[in-house]
Amino acid sequence: MEGWDGEDDGRPSDLVRRRWDRFAASEAGVVWGEATAVRPDGRANPRQLVLDDNTVDDFTALRARLDPSQVTVLQLTHSGRYARPTAAGPAPKTAYEHPLLDARVESGAADVLTDDEIDELVEQFIDRAVLARQAGFDFVDIKACHGYLGHEFLSAVHRPGPYGGDLAGRTRFLRSIIEGIRRQAPDLGVAVRLSLFDFAPHTVGEGGVGIPETSDPYRLAFGGDGSGVGVDLRETHQVLDMLEDLGVGLVCASAGSPYYVPHIQRPAYFPPSDGYQPPEDPLVGVARLIAATAEIASRHPNLTVVGAGMSYLQEWLPNVGQALVDRGIADAVGLGRMILSYPQMPADVMAGRELDRRLICRTFSDCTTAPRSGLISGCYPLDDFYNQREERLQLAAFKKEAKSRMR
Ligand SMILES: Cc1cc2nc3c(=O)[nH]c(=O)nc-3n(C[C@H](O)[C@H](O)[C@H](O)COP(=O)(O)O)c2cc1C
Ligand code: SF4
Repeated sequence: MEGWDGEDDGRPSDLVRRRWDRFAASEAGVVWGEATAVRPDGRANPRQLVLDDNTVDDFTALRARLDPSQVTVLQLTHSGRYARPTAAGPAPKTAYEHPLLDARVESGAADVLTDDEIDELVEQFIDRAVLARQAGFDFVDIKACHGYLGHEFLSAVHRPGPYGGDLAGRTRFLRSIIEGIRRQAPDLGVAVRLSLFDFAPHTVGEGGVGIPETSDPYRLAFGGDGSGVGVDLRETHQVLDMLEDLGVGLVCASAGSPYYVPHIQRPAYFPPSDGYQPPEDPLVGVARLIAATAEIASRHPNLTVVGAGMSYLQEWLPNVGQALVDRGIADAVGLGRMILSYPQMPADVMAGRELDRRLICRTFSDCTTAPRSGLISGCYPLDDFYNQREERLQLAAFKKEAKSRMR
């Protein structure tokens, strides 16, 4: 859970350290550390963390804030199409030209990475993984979800050359990074956060409700069934087979992208202010994610599978999580938004204490809306620390303006 709140040079700030202190206090067994760019121009926002030779000591200190018993993962990423490394605005680097998403970027045409640039990026991922090991992390996650570059390669069916086309080509980026890490840091665990399936980009339809932007057959959704709104995990299973062969033991399940299909990625009752109204009951989104997680866990018993996307379950999250683990549908359940509003939830549940209902995430989406308006993220409604900051007023003004625009 990143916060759009690091220092300008990619180091953790006091806000990042506060968040990680709360992760420590959660008593969660695994802390899956936030998206961290492997180089400055791969940041999704000017305040995203960057791991490199200059910042590695700060990451060592960050890891040290967690309990030694907590297994730690650091998520390594290049934001690709969603790179916005400076205040000057978007600076997308993409895997391929996209007929729908290119038009959504303010800066116009996509800058498609060359094969040589990708080769260089692969080496940077490997180098940063070695640094993560040095900083004391148990795992690195080579991020392959949410529309960022590692995910986009998986749907690069039209890209010519070694990094696109058939599945062997489309997985070459991920595979080369993992093989390199295995060679250079054999004792470092490698995890992958994977969007198991994807849909066609959605847009605002009648009554503000989300609709797919195209009704044509849609081949650019990895794990999709070609309709743009359906799931077919055949290729997902092949990718997971490959990951197992490469020695990857830990996978976190996700779906789609918060940029173009947020309702399948983070089901919410109140969507982000700049988005569309959910086209389905958010429970359907949660159930879809659980069904896909169940399918991969049963087909890949050697993988440790973390389920996610369940904050909408609110009070029932612990019960459902327990049921999923009991039934072998997932090995663990990850908390996203809930960990921002109620970091002590895992500790309370494990101790058998009653839940503190005031802190339960109600999927108000302020933690997504805030960064969409250039503000730091955080749980403004339920975490007093954010509620009392002046950014809350800016957020309220942004939401009001967005609401009037939607009318
Ligand atoms: C504020 C915020 C920050 C996030 N940061 C990350 C991130 O750094 N890496 C990542 O893989 N997902 C990130 N996500 C997505 C969540 O990990 C998660 O997939 C999503 O919120 C759905 O799970 P939930 O229902 O438990 O919130 C973020 C989501 C939010 C709302
Ligand atoms: S702002 Fe708080 S309550 Fe709203 S979705 Fe985020 S974590 Fe949940």
